[in-house]
Amino acid sequence: MNSFLDIHTTDKADLRGMIDSARRMKDARAGQPKGTPDADLPLKNRMVALIFEKPSTRTRVSFDLGVRQMGGQTMVLSGKEMQLGHGETIADTARVLSRYVDLIMIRTFEEATLLEMAEYASVPVINGLTNRTHPCQIMADVMTFEEHRGPIAGKKVVWSGDGNNVCASMIHAAGQFGYDFTFTGPPTLDPEAEALEFARAQGVRAVIERDPVKAVEGADLVVTDTWVSMHDPQSARERRHNQLRGYQVNGELMGHARPDALFMHCLPAHRDDEVTSAVMDGPNSVIFDEAENRLHAQKAVMRWCLGV
Ligand code: CP
Ligand code: NVA
Repeated sequence: MNSFLDIHTTDKADLRGMIDSARRMKDARAGQPKGTPDADLPLKNRMVALIFEKPSTRTRVSFDLGVRQMGGQTMVLSGKEMQLGHGETIADTARVLSRYVDLIMIRTFEEATLLEMAEYASVPVINGLTNRTHPCQIMADVMTFEEHRGPIAGKKVVWSGDGNNVCASMIHAAGQFGYDFTFTGPPTLDPEAEALEFARAQGVRAVIERDPVKAVEGADLVVTDTWVSMHDPQSARERRHNQLRGYQVNGELMGHARPDALFMHCLPAHRDDEVTSAVMDGPNSVIFDEAENRLHAQKAVMRWCLGV
């Protein structure tokens, strides 16, 4: 039994295996209606709990659909409506849910909640986003890059904007999948140092460059995300916008990357804040492939968790 808690804490070969398995599953169902069950039904008779303590469109729909395609069943639970939101401990919730379901996916605030859930559950737990990381997103992103440009190893990935949870997982993946990573953004919003140190310890370049134009030179992939995450206080909105304005991904900035550089955003995007509509809808943008690949990548993650 394996929990999928983070990219840097998951075995490198297993991560590669999941990307390859996602690719095979996607290819196998090409052109079929979305609700068509996969031929082998690897999750037949399995029940999966999807817990959300924060809003979600992609994670919710892609996990639910993925389980159904693999022949399993889901229950989608909102943290607020569970006793979890009314004082029952995470540990007790984990032990109770483990008697009902075969797999738990949780989107929550503090990383400690995820870790406690995994510690006390006797079934695998998947990280569907915490304040600190978003590993499922980056599995989809690696898959998407490789679908368009071949192996990501040795490529240059640049993150422009807030050094947030999605950014942290992108840095972890640099170490695990062997690509170089450059962060560009204001010093107050740097990604956590441990993530950069992890990537460097795996032998890749993981650096900070304050000048966005210099940062994107030679980039194979430019990535950004919202300037205000779900866990950030709304009161910080104006300050963050002021600090981040110079790091907007626009046509001019993309013009300094490689001509074939891809653009990614985990979505939801705030058009014309962190990225212009022209870039989002432009020829180098693969944002909707990323969204689709959440489905395929997470199906592979669930199979790995359950060993099926
Ligand atoms: N990218 C992502 O996780 O989207 P949702 O918040 O809609 O799940
Ligand atoms: N950084 C964003 C990602 C949303 C998918 C957030 O945490 O709100």
